[in-house]
Amino acid sequence: MDITFTPEELQQVELHKSKYPEPKAAIMPVLWMAQKKWGWLSEDVMRYIGQLLDLPTAHVKGVATFYTMYFKKPMGNYHIQVCTNISCMLRGGEDIYRHVSGKYGISHNQRTPDGKYSLEEVECMGACGGAPMIAVNEVFYEKVDIQEVDKVLDSLS
Ligand code: FES
Repeated sequence: MDITFTPEELQQVELHKSKYPEPKAAIMPVLWMAQKKWGWLSEDVMRYIGQLLDLPTAHVKGVATFYTMYFKKPMGNYHIQVCTNISCMLRGGEDIYRHVSGKYGISHNQRTPDGKYSLEEVECMGACGGAPMIAVNEVFYEKVDIQEVDKVLDSLS
């Protein structure tokens, strides 16, 4: 796999770097860009980001490892996030999590053998007013019950 950003993406990296007094402070948005592009942060991707920001790979790995939003292994084509934090938990978030887990036979940060689905139990996603909520590839579905969750998931192809 070719691990290089396009010229447009490199411009975006430069823009992120220009927002901080120290260019290396741009590591979080740049890692996010990389995850969006390649789906997860492999060793090769982390090495590339280190080169771009003039940082040792070990530093890049340290940041990627610290924050759970960065994937250190491949996730599914459909990445399903289920919030079980307080507002969602009080409105059935844990039941939804257990349901999705049972539906695909996977638990937190696992993906199905065909690579189609992965599941993540997440902390508050800032949509507490719509609790309980799930997200699929970052599209939010709020005030859902198990039937609605099934409808969303079964519509994925
Ligand atoms: S507690 Fe679930 S979105 Fe805030």
